[in-house]
Amino acid sequence: MIELQNISKTFRKNKDEVHAVKKVDLSIEPHSIVALIGPSGCGKSTLLNMIAGLYPPSGGKVFYDGEQVTTVNTHAGYMTQKDNLLPWRNVIDNVSLPLELAGVSKEERYERTRKMLAEVSLDGFEEKFSSELSGGMRKRACLARMLLYEPQALLLDEPFAALDAQLRLAMHDLLLKLWTEKRQTILLVTHDLVEAVTLADRIVVFSKRPATVTYDEVVDIPRPRDVREVRFTKKFRDIYNSVWEHLKDQYDEERI
Ligand SMILES: Nc1ncnc2c1ncn2[C@@H]1O[C@H](COP(=O)(O)OP(=O)(O)O)[C@@H](O)[C@H]1O
Ligand SMILES: [Mg+2]
Repeated sequence: MIELQNISKTFRKNKDEVHAVKKVDLSIEPHSIVALIGPSGCGKSTLLNMIAGLYPPSGGKVFYDGEQVTTVNTHAGYMTQKDNLLPWRNVIDNVSLPLELAGVSKEERYERTRKMLAEVSLDGFEEKFSSELSGGMRKRACLARMLLYEPQALLLDEPFAALDAQLRLAMHDLLLKLWTEKRQTILLVTHDLVEAVTLADRIVVFSKRPATVTYDEVVDIPRPRDVREVRFTKKFRDIYNSVWEHLKDQYDEERI
């Protein structure tokens, strides 16, 4: 579904060069949930930006569904790390914007948006503006907006990082429930190894900058998974420990 071939990205500003991504090869199976994990600043968001087609790689090629990505990839929904709600629109008009652009009637888009807002526990906030929402609420509004568009693939950049623990579990539950229905291909960037093992079919570990793949592990925990209970199973613990063995080196080196 998503194929990265020898992808590198170097940012140049005047004479300075920042090597953000280096020689990444990655092949993502359709309908799978793949977690990308690595230290802060290693190049994960840069990688998602290239898959979304927001800017080209400096080297290598990105393919989506067999076609090279050369411009904005509209088949993939992208939830960026920073929320980008329009401050002059209230929640319902922000979340329903993609449907509005697609020409869906006001009545239908409001109806569908209200349902989706209820799914992310934002019912009652339809008329609020983004400045009146907490960080977690803004994230949920972005998630609702992306899901409403029903993309085949979801690129999620640390979508649940700002949420408190209870809400994060509720969102994990929701994501897996929606995935069971729609079977999107999901690329999930996260800092949180528990989140990665809970949700993913596969975890890819990146090195500190420039991001290269240092480890790749299959999460063969059966589905459906109970997002509250799964972490207490032996299988979970084994996978967590095995990924952490590779991840911790990246953090240890960072501290020095
Ligand atoms: N548009 C840009 N221009 C220059 N440098 C950038 C740009 N985007 C990211 N970088 C740099 O690339 C590196 C990787 O950033 P990023 O992909 O955001 O990391 P992560 O998402 O893993 O925390 C960082 O050093 C960052 O400063
Ligand atoms: Mg990032």
